[in-house]
Amino acid sequence: MTFTDVFPQETPEAKAKRMEWFADAKLGIFIHWGIYAVNGIDESWSFYNGKISYEDYMKQLQGFTAANYHPEQWADLFFRAGAKYVVLTSKHHDGVALWDTKMGELSVVKRSPAGRDLIGPYCAALRKKGLKVGLYFSLLDWSHPDYPGFRRNENKYEKDSLRFNKFRTFLYGQLDELAEKFNPDLYWFDGDWEQPAETWGARAIREKLLKHNPNTIINSRLQGYGDYDTPENGVPVHKPQGNWWELCMTMNDSWGYQLTDNNFKTPYQLISIFADCIGKGGNLLLDIGPKEDGSIPAEYTSCLEEFGRWTGKHAEAIYGTTAGIPRDYYCGNSTLSKDRKKLYLFIDQKPIGPIMVKGLRNNVRVAYVVGKGNNLNTRVMMKAWWSEIPGILYIDVPEGSLDPMVTVVALSLDGALELYPKP
Ligand code: GLC
Repeated sequence: MTFTDVFPQETPEAKAKRMEWFADAKLGIFIHWGIYAVNGIDESWSFYNGKISYEDYMKQLQGFTAANYHPEQWADLFFRAGAKYVVLTSKHHDGVALWDTKMGELSVVKRSPAGRDLIGPYCAALRKKGLKVGLYFSLLDWSHPDYPGFRRNENKYEKDSLRFNKFRTFLYGQLDELAEKFNPDLYWFDGDWEQPAETWGARAIREKLLKHNPNTIINSRLQGYGDYDTPENGVPVHKPQGNWWELCMTMNDSWGYQLTDNNFKTPYQLISIFADCIGKGGNLLLDIGPKEDGSIPAEYTSCLEEFGRWTGKHAEAIYGTTAGIPRDYYCGNSTLSKDRKKLYLFIDQKPIGPIMVKGLRNNVRVAYVVGKGNNLNTRVMMKAWWSEIPGILYIDVPEGSLDPMVTVVALSLDGALELYPKP
C-alpha cells in the first residue's frame, strides 16, 4: 500500500511538488547526539541488550554537558560539505529528549548539566544557512512507564490498551511540541517496528503533522504512512522502485560517538557510495556522532571537508539531477540533468582505456570533465549503417584530468536523452 492509496486527496503531482527539495538535495547529514556519547556506547541498544544496566546508562545524564555545542559551526561545516538538509536525534529509543519537553521529566534540559534546549539553536543555525531542518524522533520510548517494551525479552506489561493510550497521549504531546516549537521540514521517525500502524495511530500522526505544516516530509518508518524509503547501511543493489529514497549510513560502525570504533570508511568509499545513491535517484544521509560536549571529532570533520571539495567541484552533476542510465549502457554510476540533455558519467576506477557508452542515440555536442572544464575527444565506432543499434561511444579521459576520488564526465547531448533499446 502506498501513501497515495491511503490519502487519495494528494495527487502525484502535489506529492512531487512537496518532495521537490528533498529529491534535489542529494546529501543530508544525520546526527546521533545524546547521552550515549558520554560513555561512548551504543545509543539506547546498550541497555536494551543488557550490555549496561538501565541505571548506569542513565547515569550518563550527569556527564552530558553540551559545553562546546556551537550549532552555527555545525551548520557551517554541513553547508561546506554540500549537504542540503540535516537530521538530528531529538529523542532516541532511550527517551531522553534534547528539548525542554513539558510532557515529562526526561530531558537533557531538566536532568543533565547541559541544562538547556539544544534543538531550537540547531534549527535556527541551519535555517540561517539555508539548510532544511530534519528531526529524528523515536516512536518507541523504552523509558516511559506506559510504554510496554523495555529490554530485550522483558516487557513491562502485556496488552493493555488503556495504558498504551496514556503513552499515546504523551507521544502525541511530544510531537505537538516538536511541530509547534521547531516546525521541522522533515520528520525522521524510528522504532515503528515495535507496534502496528493502528497501535501507534500512524495515520493520525501523519495527518496531525501535515495539518500543522502541509509541506513537511515524513520518512518511511511510520508503518506505511511515510513519504520515502530509508534503506540502512547498504546501498540497494538495484535501483529502488519508489520515486524517493535515502540511504542512511554510518561513517564507522556506530551511529553515535564511540571512542573505540575506528573502523572508518575512507572518503573514497563514501563518495563512491554517494555517487551510487544519486545514480539510482536516491539521497545519502551520512551520519556523524558528536561528543557529549557537542564537538565533532576530527575523523568526521575531515571526511566532510573532503565531501565539500568533491561536491563543490561536481555540483552540476549532483544537485537537481535525476537517476542516470542503467549499467547495461554505461558500466558505472550516472545522473541526468532534469531536461535530460546532459548525461553525467561517474568514474570511480582508474580507466585503462577510453570509457564507453552503448545504445546512445543522441549526438554528443561536447564532452568535458566536470569541474575542470577541459573538453574530451569522443568518437562513435562499430556503427553498422544498416542497423538500428547505435555505435559505441568512446570518450578519452586523460589521466591528468582524473579526480583523486571520483571523476565526472559530462556529455552535452543534441536533445533529450534517447537510448536504444529503451530501458
Ligand atoms: C536503527 C536503530 C537506531 C538508529 C537508526 C538509524 O533503527 O534502532 O539505533 O538510530 O537505525 O537509522
